[in-house]
Amino acid sequence: GYDEEQECDYLFKTVMIGDSAVGKSNLLSRFSRNEFRVDSKPTIGVEFAYRDVRVGDKLIKAQIWDTAGQERFRAITSSYYRGALGALVVYDISRRATFDNVEKWLDELRGFSSADMVIVLVGNKCDVGRQLREVSEEEARSLAEAEDLSFVETSARDNLNVDSAFLEMIAKIH
Ligand code: GTP
Ligand code: MG
Repeated sequence: GYDEEQECDYLFKTVMIGDSAVGKSNLLSRFSRNEFRVDSKPTIGVEFAYRDVRVGDKLIKAQIWDTAGQERFRAITSSYYRGALGALVVYDISRRATFDNVEKWLDELRGFSSADMVIVLVGNKCDVGRQLREVSEEEARSLAEAEDLSFVETSARDNLNVDSAFLEMIAKIH
């Protein structure tokens, strides 16, 4: 729930990364405010949002950071990752290149974060038709297994699996 008055037991910093226009900001606005924008602008610098999540008997304030996929709009990398306990690495199932870049994002993430960081691979825009799909679920799942990540396909537009993606990450942080 969103009860502002309640005291939280933990504050977790988590981050979102992935190529430009894969839908990071819309996943975050869907998760934190139940909003989606067809005409959203590329992120410049860093934005963040909160949502309180109950895990067992603990109330956790999840602080989720979102930055630009475009290099020229990105914030200072080391401070972006500092203290983060979890990450969503997002690609767009209708754009192959965004999946091919997942390894690059994982390298950067692992270079700046601790080994026990919880990472979820997210294939967004699963609402697109079969004709537009360029990355199969099987292929993404085998990458996730090889890299020891959780995996989920989402749609920020249709609100499919968005909560699951974030909650999977948050629940695994301990
Ligand atoms: P940067 O800030 O540049 O890194 O991009 P981003 O990853 O934050 O992407 P953003 O959320 O701004 O979304 C880019 C475009 O994709 C927008 O036009 C969104 O409406 C669209 N989009 C986001 N999520 C979905 C989705 O689940 N399905 C579909 N069909 N479109 C989506
Ligand atoms: Mg953005």
